[in-house]
Amino acid sequence: MLKKKYIKRKYDLSAQFYDRRYAQIQFEKYKSMLARFSFQKAGRVLDLGCGSGLLSKFLAKKGAKADIIGVDLSFNMLKRAKELVVQADADHLPFKPGAFNAVLSFTSLQGLPRPASAIAEVKRVLKPGGPFIFTFMKKRFSTALEGGLKENFKIISKHDCGEDVGFRCVRA
Ligand SMILES: C[S@@+](CC[C@H](N)C(=O)[O-])C[C@H]1O[C@@H](n2cnc3c(N)ncnc32)[C@H](O)[C@@H]1O
Repeated sequence: MLKKKYIKRKYDLSAQFYDRRYAQIQFEKYKSMLARFSFQKAGRVLDLGCGSGLLSKFLAKKGAKADIIGVDLSFNMLKRAKELVVQADADHLPFKPGAFNAVLSFTSLQGLPRPASAIAEVKRVLKPGGPFIFTFMKKRFSTALEGGLKENFKIISKHDCGEDVGFRCVRA
């Protein structure tokens, strides 16, 4: 629990300079991971650990018409986002089963004490067959995460994505 408090505080403090410092590097990850994702037909999309809403800004620039809902722990990060956002913990998502057509998450899950429990939550809120596309900081990556992922999702691809490792998966 303490660790989550620390993460929340860290991002509350960095919210004021986050976009300036990280927008470019995050946009590169979105470009690489979402090249083949159709946002015109995406339906309701969860941006898990949305931060300041950079992904939503990126998609707006591309003319995407997806219905994006962001979730994050940090209130100060969420204040900067333009899409519909909810302050919540990835381990306990306040949504009904199958509420989303797709779940995206960039550079957010590596801070979780037990990423497997957030992955189980993603499975719960994602419709069967829906895509789960995410990146995870390489330096925090563990094989335990990949094990949890394989139990709940079919992994379509795994590859380098700058400082992150990126996965494209489909809900079993
Ligand atoms: C490196 S930022 C990435 C933000 C955004 N995805 C982007 O591409 O710019 C990581 C974000 O994950 C959020 N986060 C970390 N742990 C979380 C948790 N347990 N539940 C929800 N959000 C979390 C942080 O508050 C922070 O905003």
